[in-house]
Amino acid sequence: MKKVTVHDKEFEVYLDRDTIWSRVQTIGRQLDIDYKGLNPLFIGVLNGAFIFAADLFRVLNIEAEISFVKLTSYEGTSSTGAVVSAIGLKEDVKDRHVIIVEDIVDTGKTLSEFLPQVLAQSPASLKIASFLTKPEALKHDVKADYVGFEIPNKFVVGYGLDYNGQGRNLTDLYQLVEG
Ligand code: IMP
Ligand code: MG
Repeated sequence: MKKVTVHDKEFEVYLDRDTIWSRVQTIGRQLDIDYKGLNPLFIGVLNGAFIFAADLFRVLNIEAEISFVKLTSYEGTSSTGAVVSAIGLKEDVKDRHVIIVEDIVDTGKTLSEFLPQVLAQSPASLKIASFLTKPEALKHDVKADYVGFEIPNKFVVGYGLDYNGQGRNLTDLYQLVEG
């Protein structure tokens, strides 16, 4: 099993690049069908989604547009949770068919706060495409419509996902080796 060390932790390959690429193409074919003639607007969530968004967007054969947002969380001192604010959503979302592109839906907190902000701008439709979901970790009412892979509740790096800033460049997806 191929292993890497990122910072102080050891990771092993969980999904190899061919498996990932093949799945991305399958999702692309589905989006081609679902969004033909609708000129959808993809909104990638930085930083983590940049590689998935790039791969997914370039396998599309339909007319489509893409933009990116960066979400900033302000953690409060209490447990009331974070407020997410979008930086850089300049496109007019009104009456557009919007697909949010995420690296992973973990607890669902980020999207549970970002989706209402997009909905407030009256898109024609709003869907989520997430490279990964961790169903066991989900705490908020967020459901991805297009999912690359459902994974167990273990920390992963690679394919855009980081561990303290490192590991995004790994082409395969790696899972933390426990213990
Ligand atoms: P959520 O708001 O709990 O759904 O978490 C979303 C964000 O947490 C993701 O966009 C990632 O940036 C980060 N995240 C969650 N799980 C992992 C992981 O296993 N590896 C790397 N980043 C993760
Ligand atoms: Mg993210």
